[in-house]
Amino acid sequence: MAVAVEFKNLNYAYDAINSEKKNALTNINLKIDEGDYVCVVGHTGSGKTTLLKHINGILKPTSGEVLVFGSNIWEEKKTFKENNFKIGYVFQNPAYQLFEETVEKDIAFGPKNLGLSEVEVKNRVKKAAEIVGLREETLKKSPFEISGGQKKRAAIAGVIAINPKILLLDEPTAGLDPEGKKNILKIIKKYNEEFLATVIVVTHSMEDIYSFANKILVLNEGKVFSYDEIEKTFERAAELQKIGLDVPDVTKVFLKLKERGFNVPLNIYSVEKAVEFLENLKKEEKTC
Ligand SMILES: Nc1ncnc2c1ncn2[C@@H]1O[C@H](COP(=O)(O)OP(=O)(O)OP(=O)(O)O)[C@@H](O)[C@H]1O
Ligand SMILES: [Mg+2]
Repeated sequence: MAVAVEFKNLNYAYDAINSEKKNALTNINLKIDEGDYVCVVGHTGSGKTTLLKHINGILKPTSGEVLVFGSNIWEEKKTFKENNFKIGYVFQNPAYQLFEETVEKDIAFGPKNLGLSEVEVKNRVKKAAEIVGLREETLKKSPFEISGGQKKRAAIAGVIAINPKILLLDEPTAGLDPEGKKNILKIIKKYNEEFLATVIVVTHSMEDIYSFANKILVLNEGKVFSYDEIEKTFERAAELQKIGLDVPDVTKVFLKLKERGFNVPLNIYSVEKAVEFLENLKKEEKTC
């Protein structure tokens, strides 16, 4: 499998000239495989947004390298330009991305810049609107008169209309109600699966993660704390809590049981997994 993104000895300081200033990112070494769905978590200020911004070149490393599909994005102008079309970035605040008269024009902005024909642009807009579930009548509206959830959908549609191979999203569900959250997460998952795209999502919501991602990157004070599959990550639930991270409610219950001396595993992170574990326990009791 191809490596979509690689960080090599990446360091970043916002004020590199001021040597007193501490690094926002320190010695990041990491490979993200093509097609993976990665959630990036960490307490406030741990460097999540800073890392994301290095993938599409909004920020340039103070030292070290960022490779996208094997090419250093800062080596050649051509590579940098190509990356703009390989990588889609959805900002935390969709208002930064919506500026046209209508939602339709906003979604068409990217494909138009790709130099596609009018027909192809229309197709891309239609397909992207379909994926995110925006109706025809919403497309005709101004992006400023639609709801928060619809704005997020419009921002995501505008980005997926360029068919990025890597989709980066900074807290895409922040501020949405549970139903809206679920819808957005489903859209992202669909894009990941249908287009075999690599998806990297920054989130504060641990509960959101397990049903969609296959890997979790935990950042702590600008360093990689862990990068692993979900089960393996939650096995370290007690350590995650120590660095100020929330863990799923179900995991908390199992942590408490363990503290009280029960022999339970710690990699239970969803209600389904808990039910599975308890049912197996019942079966074992019956056969004893
Ligand atoms: N524009 C900036 N100028 C100076 N320092 C900054 C800037 N943006 C972020 N920082 C600092 O860099 C560090 C990492 O910030 P970053 O925004 O990447 O964290 P984050 O994990 O995304 O946090 P949050 O969860 O609050 O969004 C923090 O110490 C932050 O204060
Ligand atoms: Mg952030």
